[in-house]
Amino acid sequence: MPWTQADEGAGGQDDAVYIGAGECRSCHKGQERSYLAGRHGKVFTLNPRDGRAARGCEACHGPGSAHIRVAGEIDERGPLRIRSFKDPAVAAESAKVCLDCHEGGGRMHWRGSTHDMEGITCTSCHRIHGAAPVPTMDICLECHKSQRAKLQRTAHMPLREGKIVCMDCHNPHGGPGPGLLETASVNETCYRCHAEKRGPNLFEHPPVRENCANCHDPHGSNNPRLLKKRLPYLCQECHSARLHVGTLYNGLDLDDPAVRQLRGKACTNCHSRIHGSNHPSGARFQR
Ligand code: HEC
Ligand code: HEC
Ligand code: HEC
Ligand code: HEC
Ligand code: HEC
Ligand code: HEC
Ligand code: HEC
Ligand code: HEC
Ligand code: HEC
Ligand code: HEC
Repeated sequence: MPWTQADEGAGGQDDAVYIGAGECRSCHKGQERSYLAGRHGKVFTLNPRDGRAARGCEACHGPGSAHIRVAGEIDERGPLRIRSFKDPAVAAESAKVCLDCHEGGGRMHWRGSTHDMEGITCTSCHRIHGAAPVPTMDICLECHKSQRAKLQRTAHMPLREGKIVCMDCHNPHGGPGPGLLETASVNETCYRCHAEKRGPNLFEHPPVRENCANCHDPHGSNNPRLLKKRLPYLCQECHSARLHVGTLYNGLDLDDPAVRQLRGKACTNCHSRIHGSNHPSGARFQR
């Protein structure tokens, strides 16, 4: 029977039975060593939580009898009849093997998450036999080039300094809200570290309550304070440039001394409590 992707999905193991981890050792010394050095090897060997864990290699790779039957005769890539986690066509099925034991906790929202829907699977990030089975932020930057570029901008949260990482805001396994965020909304994520911005204020600025990302790019920006646009243009996306402010920033008036005095003072010089004000006369976000 020729080897197909469907075979690999099922492991091509329909008629196979479990034979015990001792049987794998003779041909896969390297993998056995890396397995025993990691958490799985230690826990499955010393303190298995159930019968499945006690199967060792076969807890993940599936029953091995069919594989060792063909293994001796392999001279070119053929029907290996064992689950290898390598075929992207069966990513979801591979993930299920891992989720059988890891669906709880941080993996609760995996199914249907953006990464799941994009065909990313557990082994896109985790190297079970590798030296670092739990990846660092570097793995994110391998795929997310645009975020990587933004980290180099002048205004940024201290990611490249190593003080915070992608996972302080995102759960790569999925989250309760949009954007693989750890929290149900963008603002809840920001409040975890910027609690003073939570309010409530006597006078609220609606776009702040709605979404911090209306004005800030959390990954980095070349404008001060991670702003998406320079002042006053940021404000003028929503506020008419035809009011008092329109006059101030109209290039034609730049020679007017009164205007020159105000020029360069961005909107927030006067509207300094841009995130909302608790001052009784702060309706215009100023004191
Ligand atoms: C008689 C030798 C032999 C035994 C015993 C053996 N294997 Fe293999 N295995 C091979 C050979 C040969 C290959 C193909 C070359 C390679 O990838 O290393 C292979 C490949 C694999 C692969 C990669 C499959 C792929 O599609 O790339 C996995 C996973 C695997 N073996 C797991 C196991 C497990 C688990 C056991 C114990 C149940 C086991 N092997 C027992 C010889 C063996
Ligand atoms: C917790 C699950 C798990 C256990 C237990 C496990 N493996 Fe693996 N194995 C994997 C995954 C996932 C891969 C795919 C590559 C990776 O993530 O490192 C893999 C890859 C392999 C490969 C393919 C060669 C390679 O390095 O890509 C072989 C052979 C293999 N494992 C043998 C074994 C043997 C032998 C044991 C027991 C001594 C074992 N594995 C235990 C998950 C497991
Ligand atoms: C039979 C149950 C079982 C299966 C299947 C399983 N795991 Fe695990 N995994 C465990 C246990 C138990 C631990 C150890 C937990 C602990 O340290 O408390 C663990 C630990 C881990 C860790 C932390 C490893 C470390 O070195 O710190 C990662 C990452 C992980 N598993 C990912 C995976 C992935 C990916 C797969 C699928 C390829 C997988 N697991 C399959 C039970 C399982
Ligand atoms: C996009 C990359 C990515 C994917 C895909 C991914 N993980 Fe993870 N995983 C991580 C990172 C990064 C961490 C470390 C989390 C942290 O530092 O807060 C982690 C942590 C874990 C841990 C906890 C390890 C520990 O420290 O105890 C387990 C278990 C785990 N992942 C299992 C899985 C399983 C199962 C899947 C597939 C359903 C999966 N992961 C898919 C990146 C990923
Ligand atoms: C193997 C490639 C790959 C790796 C590694 C990877 N991602 Fe992704 N990620 C994707 C793809 C593909 C998408 C969907 C397209 C897009 O938004 O870029 C995505 C989307 C996202 C999104 C947007 C989700 C949404 O719903 O809009 C976030 C956030 C994200 N990834 C965070 C991470 C983090 C954090 C890590 C590291 C732990 C990581 N990714 C590692 C491929 C990857
Ligand atoms: C300070 C919190 C924070 C950190 C740290 C962070 N992000 Fe985000 N990320 C967000 C927010 C907020 C969004 C927007 C989510 C939405 O609007 O749905 C987002 C969106 C994304 C998206 C979707 C596309 C986009 O740009 O809107 C990707 C991909 C992404 N982040 C990847 C990463 C990666 C990779 C890292 C680490 C280098 C990272 N993020 C670090 C908060 C953060
Ligand atoms: C894990 C903690 C953490 C989270 C979550 C977080 N931040 Fe930050 N943020 C920081 C740290 C640390 C700094 C640097 C503070 C300093 O230098 O005083 C910072 C700085 C900033 C700055 C000022 C940057 C500058 O150039 O001065 C802005 C704006 C900002 N964060 C917005 C946000 C927004 C918007 C969110 C939600 C998407 C968010 N932060 C989520 C930790 C966090
Ligand atoms: C309407 C646009 C807008 C929105 C929405 C917004 N900000 Fe800001 N934010 C600004 C401006 C403008 C500055 C710079 C103020 C200055 O330099 O005087 C700033 C500065 C900051 C700073 C650095 C200085 C400080 O006040 O600590 C942080 C941190 C910050 N914002 C966090 C947040 C968080 C968290 C949210 C969501 C709750 C948010 N911002 C929503 C416009 C906005
Ligand atoms: C995403 C849209 C948006 C952006 C960007 C924005 N605002 Fe607002 N702003 C609003 C809305 C909506 C209101 C509430 C208007 C109302 O209640 O009539 C408001 C109210 C205000 C008020 C109070 C005015 C009043 O009539 O009560 C001031 C002052 C103000 N914004 C200044 C700014 C400044 C300065 C900036 C730039 C740093 C800015 N806004 C950016 C949407 C925005
Ligand atoms: C020199 C100080 C100053 C600067 C600079 C300034 N404002 Fe104002 N702004 C005021 C004062 C004072 C009021 C209250 C006017 C009133 O109550 O009639 C006001 C009122 C507002 C209002 C409420 C609606 C209105 O027109 O009465 C908005 C919105 C506003 N400003 C937005 C902006 C934006 C956007 C910028 C930057 C492009 C800006 N302001 C720059 C002083 C300033």
